[in-house]
Amino acid sequence: MDDLYRLYLKTIGIQYLPGYQSEQVPLPSGDKVEHSKTLEDLREFIGDCHRCQLGDTRTKLVFGTGNPRADIVFVGEAPGRDEDIEGEPFVGKAGQLLTKIFRAMGLAREDVYICNVIKCRPPQNRNPLPVEVTTCKPFLLRQIEIISPVVICALGSFAAQTLLETDIRISMLRGHFHDCYGIPLMPTYHPSFLLRDPNRKADVWEDIQKIMKRLGSGTGDREN
Ligand code: URA
Repeated sequence: MDDLYRLYLKTIGIQYLPGYQSEQVPLPSGDKVEHSKTLEDLREFIGDCHRCQLGDTRTKLVFGTGNPRADIVFVGEAPGRDEDIEGEPFVGKAGQLLTKIFRAMGLAREDVYICNVIKCRPPQNRNPLPVEVTTCKPFLLRQIEIISPVVICALGSFAAQTLLETDIRISMLRGHFHDCYGIPLMPTYHPSFLLRDPNRKADVWEDIQKIMKRLGSGTGDREN
């Protein structure tokens, strides 16, 4: 598909064509992180990060966890209090619900890769500032590029809007695959939102089933 046709489709609101495997587009993760060939390299490159002010208030930087060869990457917003203490994403109440979702998919936490847009906890869990997103996003993009998953699942509006570079609401985005640099991305509601509004669990299950269909019977780990 040429760029003009892709742009035309995007303009009329079609971001991803089911059954159409778009070419892998190099993610614009930036020159500085390009030399990081593995997740370990990237983690080392990030180091004891103070590139934004969150470095001054966090306890632990929460890089990401799981299978570096996973078929699916789950992306949340930012670490909360529990994650800040543990240094691992989604270990609090929302994380426990997310782990249940994995189990319903026939997967364990170790089968998938889990990370956030922002690697350090914003004080009092406030919304991340634009400058914090701009600073941290290249690391997320490089993580995705290194893992090269079959599917990305964006948890909540912040992750979905950041990765798709849109301000369309999550209720409109969810339920359909969108193109994220050639990788199909399914936005769905954030587990914290489900804890507040359990009636939305059915929607999330619908989204997850579409993801499972896309993954086929794969267990989450690729053979090559
Ligand atoms: N919420 C998120 O978005 N990420 C976490 O790691 C925990 C809670």
